[in-house]
Amino acid sequence: INFRKAYYVQSAPTLRECPPETGAEVAFAGRSNAGKSSAINTLTGNGKLARTSKTPGRTQMINYFFLNDDQRLVDLPGYGFAKVPLATKQKWDKHLSEYLQERQTLRGMVLLMDIRHPMQEFDTMVLNWAVEVEMPVHILLTKADKFKRGKANGTLLQVKKHLQEAQVEDLVSVQTFSSLKKEGVKELERVLNQWLAL
Ligand code: GTP
Ligand code: MG
Repeated sequence: INFRKAYYVQSAPTLRECPPETGAEVAFAGRSNAGKSSAINTLTGNGKLARTSKTPGRTQMINYFFLNDDQRLVDLPGYGFAKVPLATKQKWDKHLSEYLQERQTLRGMVLLMDIRHPMQEFDTMVLNWAVEVEMPVHILLTKADKFKRGKANGTLLQVKKHLQEAQVEDLVSVQTFSSLKKEGVKELERVLNQWLAL
């Protein structure tokens, strides 16, 4: 797949307004500010594709980027953003779990976590939803540039160990990633190429 050919198609406020369920798609989920939109831009080599921001809560709609007619990347709003009203948050939680359970074309979820605080409560919950419906998950420990390599690898090992203990390594994989340094792109591409195969 040529990820550099990605183009924006649509923003959907709710699942019902998403494109028809044909082909294959991969969703980018994670806490607000984890670096989802940045990762999509890094992957596609287009810094202007998905809007990013220092302020959490930048992405508020389900944004669809097409790689071609049948393969898509989906940028989801972040969860856990304190300034969003509780009712909105709860609605989003429901949306996300429904999306994981019901979206026929969803092949896998890239779950982004800031390497400085991985596996927060809501991350674990989302991970559990995915495992329940046997949805493959690839965790990106983002902003790896914030740590020295040894420390970054230490966190990576900790998360791997956690996944082993939870007996989910068959379904859940993990890597370090940095949009700033453009590190981990090849590894991510390998996973997405497998998931999006038609
Ligand atoms: P929401 O749309 O609010 O859910 O956030 P998001 O997950 O899409 O995060 P976004 O990509 O907008 O990035 C949030 C902030 O983190 C921005 O200020 C980015 O510049 C910064 N950021 C993203 N990736 C990296 C990275 O790899 N390294 C560093 N140092 N900063 C990053
Ligand atoms: Mg975003």
